[in-house]
Amino acid sequence: MQEIKIFCPATIANISCGFDVLGVALESVGDEMVVRKIAKNGIYITKLEGQELPMETLQNVAGVAGLALLEKSTYTGGFEIEIRKKIKAGSGIGSSAASASGAVWAMNELLGRPFSKLELVQFAMEGERLASGVAHADNVAPALFGGFTLVRSYDPLDIVPIPSPSELYATVIHPQIEVKTSDSRKILKTTISLADGIKQWGNVGGLVAGLFTSDYALIGRSLVDHIVEPIRSMLIPGFDDVKSASLNSGALGCGISGSGPSIFAFSQGKKKAVEVADAMKKVYQHIGIDYDVHVSKINPEGIKLIHSSK
Ligand code: HSE
Repeated sequence: MQEIKIFCPATIANISCGFDVLGVALESVGDEMVVRKIAKNGIYITKLEGQELPMETLQNVAGVAGLALLEKSTYTGGFEIEIRKKIKAGSGIGSSAASASGAVWAMNELLGRPFSKLELVQFAMEGERLASGVAHADNVAPALFGGFTLVRSYDPLDIVPIPSPSELYATVIHPQIEVKTSDSRKILKTTISLADGIKQWGNVGGLVAGLFTSDYALIGRSLVDHIVEPIRSMLIPGFDDVKSASLNSGALGCGISGSGPSIFAFSQGKKKAVEVADAMKKVYQHIGIDYDVHVSKINPEGIKLIHSSK
């Protein structure tokens, strides 16, 4: 294989209670990338459509992640990368993760899969380090593994894939403002109280148990964030109203997607997820803020091959 075209999914990180450790891949929102082998050593971003982002290798998350892979590889050639962004930068649904993980996934395929998924996560985390200043794995892990993932430990890196209940749907609304992950991390406190910790890890355990047993009510009860949401929600116009509207229309739970400003809700069944989308939209229509909205199934496989050529 010389060239590969792939779909790189959007992802919801944190999932309310799991700051920096929980994430999930989406089915119906994502970027496309074309990656091709070339004789010249190095990574070259040759096309970038859909967003204004740097194309210099060292300034681009796909470039930096790709270089991390090349460094550990015996391959002496290089790669050209074309990126068609459909996920807006700074939207909170893993735009940088899609590009970083897509680059390393495609390179690994073109090289005959010398690296494990866990190693690919480590390379892609270098893209996150460039984008946000912190090499968090809660977007790149679900992009690469698919479905829900838990980062059980960062050192050593330990990723636990978690099954997705078949009727679970995500609704994501993106009010058209940009929140940089680096900025929304700066406002967080670095310590938490034992009382908040107890509530938070109860919910993380509850959410993971609910996902394993397809217990939708338990999933809903566990989608609570006592630590990050109370602070970050201040950056998101209409957050409390969007959350109440989604819960009143039957969502299982609702919270900030990644570092925001997107807001996600989970629902049981597509019909409910669409009703939740309508309720969320009404809030932004009322306050006069433009938005994008997505209703998506959980993506069980992560990055997907669209086609390859010799
Ligand atoms: N866990 C990261 C954060 C996700 O909340 O800062 C960013 O998408």
